[in-house]
Amino acid sequence: MAANTYLTGIKPTGEFHLGNYVGAIKPALAAAREYDTYYFVADYHALNTVKDAAELRHSIRSGAATWLACGLDPERTVVYQQSKVPETFELTTILSALTPKGLMNRAHAYKAARDRNTAAGNSDLDAGINMGLYNYPILMAADILVMEGTHVPVGRDQSQHIEYTADIAGYFNHRFGEGYSFPVPKGVIDEGDGSILPGTDGRKMSKSYDNHIPLFLPENKLKKAIRRIPTDSTPVEDPKDADGSVPFQLLAHFADADKVADVRRRLEAGGMGWGELKNELFEAVNAELGPKRERYDQLMDDPSEIDAILEAGSARARERARATIDRVRAAVGVA
Ligand code: ADP
Ligand code: TRP
Repeated sequence: MAANTYLTGIKPTGEFHLGNYVGAIKPALAAAREYDTYYFVADYHALNTVKDAAELRHSIRSGAATWLACGLDPERTVVYQQSKVPETFELTTILSALTPKGLMNRAHAYKAARDRNTAAGNSDLDAGINMGLYNYPILMAADILVMEGTHVPVGRDQSQHIEYTADIAGYFNHRFGEGYSFPVPKGVIDEGDGSILPGTDGRKMSKSYDNHIPLFLPENKLKKAIRRIPTDSTPVEDPKDADGSVPFQLLAHFADADKVADVRRRLEAGGMGWGELKNELFEAVNAELGPKRERYDQLMDDPSEIDAILEAGSARARERARATIDRVRAAVGVA
């Protein structure tokens, strides 16, 4: 069997924030230095919600540019665009023929959409739900299986999708295993809460809570966003609860260990105000992200480089997908 393949997709539906950077981008970059990695922009998944061509085009490039600016090496990692690998959609059709409808009925995202209709008093529980949302888990299974992905780094909210992928691979292998078997993938989910970054209101930083700080804010806006993080009214000279404050928790992810220890000591001893802490936080975030932001802006100003990287990566991804689909076609009897 092939060596381990780490594969993950990002849905281009909005701008990245500091939480995505700490919880998803940095671990993905670390994995890319160690394993065989396939990272793609899940543009057809995004189409379910993004219905504006210019916006989708921008988000696809912005997603790829974010990874590249953060240091992903497209020679080592296959960086590609989902829609440019049509074998994925052929596999979606094949997998659909094996997947029970009941499995889709039980999917969290679909159930949540129906619950919203119930809560709104809508008698049609499927109102506003498109088939793309309903079939989302099958497309995601096809993304993974077509590349013979074995390890899938994702956020905890995606774990059901990985379980479904394993189930769907199982249905196929059970039926057609004599001709071809998919490797059954595993999710790589960071269970430690240590990597959950708080948002400005102290809850998990998330686009859906509107408490996020975008990753590539211009310097002056970043400074303002950090200044606006709420803190209590403990006077400068009083001792403070470092771990209970959002700016300190953020600092712990961006500054080096010595700096973090020094700031902690000064906060806990009294004499360091929240304003000074925020200055330290700004300096640390800006030092880490400044050069990446410059690279990001440069890539977005002339997207031809991103487009060329996605094109080349998608050609490499297709080669691998083609090899899988040829064997799958033979196994099911259409070739
Ligand atoms: P959002 O909650 O803003 O919609 P996503 O669900 O799109 O974010 O998350 C994409 C990736 O970023 C996932 O792998 C997720 O685990 C990670 N992530 C999102 N928010 C945070 C956070 N606050 N701290 C750590 N990781 C996060
Ligand atoms: N559903 C994932 C998300 O919303 C994105 C995604 C699509 C994905 N296909 C994938 C992730 C395949 C991992 C593997 O975050």
